[in-house]
Amino acid sequence: MENKSFVSISELTKEEILSLLDDASYFESNPNQRILEGRVLATLFFEPSTRTRLSFETAVNRLGGRIIGFSDANTTSSSKGESLKDTIMMVSNYADCIIMRHYLEGAAQYASEISPVSIVNAGDGANQHPSQTMLDLYSIYKTQGTLENLTITLVGDLKYGRTVHSLIQAMRFFNPTFVFVACDELRMPDEYKDYCNEHGIKYVETHDFSEEVINNTDILYMTRVQRERFTDLMEYERVKNVYTLRNSMLSGSKPNLRILHPLPRVSEIAYDCDENPKAYYFQQAKNGLYARQAIICKVLGIKLDK
Ligand code: CP
Repeated sequence: MENKSFVSISELTKEEILSLLDDASYFESNPNQRILEGRVLATLFFEPSTRTRLSFETAVNRLGGRIIGFSDANTTSSSKGESLKDTIMMVSNYADCIIMRHYLEGAAQYASEISPVSIVNAGDGANQHPSQTMLDLYSIYKTQGTLENLTITLVGDLKYGRTVHSLIQAMRFFNPTFVFVACDELRMPDEYKDYCNEHGIKYVETHDFSEEVINNTDILYMTRVQRERFTDLMEYERVKNVYTLRNSMLSGSKPNLRILHPLPRVSEIAYDCDENPKAYYFQQAKNGLYARQAIICKVLGIKLDK
């Protein structure tokens, strides 16, 4: 990992991914330790978050470290015009690691190039969400017993969905078959289809969220249509409810199927799915705690006494 930062999932080797998953499993069995005692970590969230920020902060607290930071940039001097560079340089005076979410694509990469301390990307615009990908991989591994040879169906906002972009890149080592289900306005960008072609990743694209698609799937990865990414809100209104998963659509699905969603959800998974044992999105969010404990230790260079 260059610069001991965690900016893009594409920087990781297969061995690093598997090692992080092993560490996440260790933390699931041993979540409370004092291995961050004396360390201060900062969470700088320039965009809203529930799970990512709180699970990172829980990860630090359960490992005995201390947290500083903000969840609303309007309460900071960036609202007075302070640049991202100056903010990062200031916070690096106080913290051993900066976990940041920013609305600009590339912000975390930029921060990692100027920061004297480790940067963890907690989401940069529509680009990457690598810590989400680690918890997604951990969830897939836990529920399928393998990462190899799976059919993964991605549904919804594939254009702006940073979680699906990162997941495609991470799965390049594991021979997946992707099904991209999206309307024309939100289809997978060419950049990621080119990435699939370059790395021999099989994929098909369809508008049709049919039972045939669902019944052939191992992992059904639903995504929210993200209102905050649209400049034309009329377009958002046209596409926001195109795909909704309902419990009745799961009756012919494979026994091993699991439904994932990075959350928050709006209308793309009906509440009647929640009681189905194949619904895994709340456990998936819990897995984020363990995956993020593993990531923090990795960037800080902490060897685990397993
Ligand atoms: N999955 C995810 O990033 O959720 P939050 O926006 O609540 O952090």
